[in-house]
This record gives sequence, C-alpha cells and structure tokens, in this order.
Amino acid sequence: MRDAPAPRLHLFVCANRREGSPLGPGCGERGEAVYDALKREVGRRGEIATTWVTKTYCLGICPREGATVARWPSGATSAIVTEVAPADVDALLGSREAGAGAGAPRGDEPAVAELSRELDALEELQRKKVLDLARRLKPGLTLEDVQNPHDFPELDDPDWHYADGVLAGVQSVKSALSAMLRGRAKRED
Ligand code: FES
Repeated sequence: MRDAPAPRLHLFVCANRREGSPLGPGCGERGEAVYDALKREVGRRGEIATTWVTKTYCLGICPREGATVARWPSGATSAIVTEVAPADVDALLGSREAGAGAGAPRGDEPAVAELSRELDALEELQRKKVLDLARRLKPGLTLEDVQNPHDFPELDDPDWHYADGVLAGVQSVKSALSAMLRGRAKRED
C-alpha cells in the first residue's frame, strides 16, 4: 500500500438501481442526473484536475427523493448528504474562489482550464473514433469490450491499434497534467 495524490474534492454520487426492493428503486436516474450536472459544472469551471466526481453503488441511505452523495474531505458539513438534486451542484462544489484557495491553478488558470477542456473534447472524440472503428470490425462491441482488445481477435487491425494508441496518448497527457496540478496543489498546502 502507498499514498497516492488526492484531489481537492472528491464526490461520490450514488446512481444505484434496485428492482423490487422494499428500500425503493435506489438513487438510479436521480443519481445519474446529479452526476451529469456535477461533471458539467466541474468542466465549466475548469476544475477537472482538482475536483473528481465518481459514480457509486448504494451508500446506505436510499432516499425517496434525489440522490445520496459522499464527500471527501467533508469540510464543515456532513460527509454524506442526501436528497441531492442537480440544482444543489454549486452547494456541493463550493465557490470557485474556495477551490482556487485550495490548490487550483493560479495565474495560468485560464490557459490550464482551456487546455483541460480541449483534452477532454479530444479524448471524447478519439474514444468515439476507436469505438466506431471497433464496431466496423466486430459489430456490437462496447466501450468496455474495446478496453480488453485481446479478447477480440477482430481488433488485431493496424488502423484500430493506431487509433487506440492516439487515445492512449491523449489520456497520458491528461494524466500528466493532472499529476502536475496535484503536485502544485500539494506544494502550496
Ligand atoms: S440507492 Fe442510493 S443510497 Fe442507497
């Protein structure tokens, strides 16, 4: 076991679905909506490197309305909040100024935010390209399938490998940027 770099804020959003359970249907769609709203807002703020949002299974609260979200670090409020709706996104993320004070980029923030957005868009585009190409080689493949290309001999194709390599390159740059920002945040603590 070893320590790993941590974000400024990590939100875990329950999107668990349950069928026929006495505890109700789970956060399901409501959790998906909260997750989507958080990802959008984090992207809009240019904070993807310092604010992480992760979808989870049941967090043990199972509200009738909204979704349950766990926060790390919890700050002044509870580590678990429930009945969360997409309109609560700003309250969950806190002010931009608070984020900047806790290690977000300083003078180069606009440029880094722009670069982060570009890399996100590039990754999305390339991921779609990799999947489209894979489905031409073997219809019906999923994103998860293409992450295990050795299970599908049809993917032993030079064009597909090239596209997948470009995707890996974009993801490496994203990781390097995240690591750089986390290192900076740590030094400024
Ligand atoms: S289903 Fe979301 S907290 Fe249990």
